[in-house]
Amino acid sequence: MRFIITKNYGDMSKEAAKVFADEMAKPNCVFGLATGATVKGMYQEIIKMYKNHQLDFSKLITFNLDEYYPIHPNNENSYHFFMKEHLFRHVNICNHLVHIPNGLANDIEKECVSYDDKIAHFGGIDVQFLGIGRNGHIGFNEPNISFEARTHIVKLDSKTIEDNSRFFNSVEDVPKYAISMGIKTIMDAKKIILLASGAEKRDALYEMIYGKISPRLPASILQLHKDVTVIADQDAVARLDI
Ligand code: F6R
Repeated sequence: MRFIITKNYGDMSKEAAKVFADEMAKPNCVFGLATGATVKGMYQEIIKMYKNHQLDFSKLITFNLDEYYPIHPNNENSYHFFMKEHLFRHVNICNHLVHIPNGLANDIEKECVSYDDKIAHFGGIDVQFLGIGRNGHIGFNEPNISFEARTHIVKLDSKTIEDNSRFFNSVEDVPKYAISMGIKTIMDAKKIILLASGAEKRDALYEMIYGKISPRLPASILQLHKDVTVIADQDAVARLDI
C-alpha cells in the first residue's frame, strides 16, 4: 500500500485530481467512481483542469460504485444527480459511456448481473476511486458483507443511514437499501485509489491498515490488493505509524 499524506482536505483533493488526470491520460481507461463529501473536492479540481484545457473526457468509460434503492435519478440525493452536478455536466464526458446502477430497476437481480457484465465487457476497471465510511465500508459494502459478492442489493447500516441523513430532510427520508458493486468487483480493479479526510475517518483507516482482515471492517480486504494508494490528510492518518 502506498500513501500520499497531505496537510489538509484541499491538498488531498489536488493530489487526487493529479492522479485522476495521470490515469486518464492512459488509453482506453475504465474508471470506477465514488460519490460523497470526500471526493467532491477532487471533482472540483478536475473540473478546473478541464476548463484549463488539460483534460479530455470524451473516451473515458466510468462505472459508479453504487446508488440508493429505490431512488429516482432526478432526486437530488441520488448518486446519478450527484455525479451530474459535481462532475459530468461540467466536462465533455459521453453519456453512453457513463454507468451508474439503476435505482429504479424492477428486477434488481438482473440489474446487478448486467452491471457486472458491462464492466467485464469493457475489460474490467482500471482505476477504482474509493472513499471510506466511518464503519469501514467501501462502496455500500457494509460490515459483515461477504467478500465474495459482486454487484448486489445491500441493506444499509444504521451508522451509514445516520451519516447520510445530513443530505436528506430527515433520517426517515434516507433510502434503506442500495445497489453496490461488491467487494469482489472492487478487488478486481487493477488499481485502487482510496481517499480519506478528517478525524472521523481515523479509526476506520487504522483498522483498514492494521486490523484483522475481516468482513467486520470491509475495507480491511484492501490489505490483499496489490496496487492500493491511500491519499489522506493529516487528520485522517493521525493514528497511523507512517
Ligand atoms: C459513495 C461510496 C461510499 C463513500 C463513503 C464515504 O459512492 O461509495 O463508500 O465513499 O460513505 O463517504 P463520505 O466521503 O461522504 O464521507
